[in-house]
Amino acid sequence: MSFPSTAQIAFAMDAQTSAFEADVLNGLAQPVKTLPSRWLYDDIGSALFEQITALPEYYPTRTETAILKEHAASLAAFCGQQSIIVEYGAGAIVKTGILLDALQEPSLYIPVDIAGDFLAQSIQQLRSSFQRLDILPIAADFTQHFPMPTELPEGLQRVGVFLGSTIGNLNKDEAVKFLNMARQHAQSRTGAFPGKALIGIDLVKSIDILLPAYDDAAGITAAFNLNLLTRINRELDGTFDLSGFRHEARWNETESAIEMHIVSETNQRVSVGRKEFTFAKGESIQTESSRKYTLEQFADIARRGGWEIAGSWTDRDHLFAVAGLVEAK
Ligand code: AVJ
Repeated sequence: MSFPSTAQIAFAMDAQTSAFEADVLNGLAQPVKTLPSRWLYDDIGSALFEQITALPEYYPTRTETAILKEHAASLAAFCGQQSIIVEYGAGAIVKTGILLDALQEPSLYIPVDIAGDFLAQSIQQLRSSFQRLDILPIAADFTQHFPMPTELPEGLQRVGVFLGSTIGNLNKDEAVKFLNMARQHAQSRTGAFPGKALIGIDLVKSIDILLPAYDDAAGITAAFNLNLLTRINRELDGTFDLSGFRHEARWNETESAIEMHIVSETNQRVSVGRKEFTFAKGESIQTESSRKYTLEQFADIARRGGWEIAGSWTDRDHLFAVAGLVEAK
């Protein structure tokens, strides 16, 4: 009989950690250092993001929630009676609750999220408030194509829901790819109901509002961003000295996006496991891109994904919009 040696046990990584390692080693080796934003959300990152949503400077969550509350009846009418709701990224349980509350007898709720644990927790909460709602969770990475279960009830309206302006984290091609998949998911086999979707979009606005939303006075967004270095140190045996780096939010006019960067304050070397990386003073790692759209720009993306904008709901200051999409003919 053979047992793994202690060394093998110590170095065995789970799939998630090896994917993280591959992204970090690859991202830091590029001439322009970049890391995918999804790695910001470990337990600490997720808790910090929750704190961000309550900051005075961070308007998106508050504004989208207000839109859902104010226009609940109209949104419910758009979704129709007894619809099947497919929600991508089930992190926003409060907002989902508002929508489900307004719907007339939603027949089935399908939350899709990559974080299985988080999903399970959220579902438990929902089950207690919506006792008669059927819930069918799917643990999947929705940036990759995945099929809807074939045994869903037929003859019902299907509505895809993607809130929080998370679509802004995708570049244009990724957004189009996502919208195409969501359209396929929303198609009913009989074709009796054209597919529908509700998408939360952060609108283009003055950088006087945008920049503070991503660089708050209390420093929570900075902590959220820099936590990525702490995560690399802990999970990938990194040697980042956090006092040698700072958080920065930048507006990229060409991309119409707010970017988060981690900027090196000095010339320095850092290792991650057995690999070493050099940083020049002022060099940065880009950790997130959060695109902002006008409704016209978003309509263009939606069309490329096979949708038409049938209606939209916004706040008085036009900070945020929820777009209602219908499958294009
Ligand atoms: C969760 C992706 C919508 O881009 O506004 C908040 C993440 N980053 N503050 C956003 C985030 C910095 C957030 N999304």
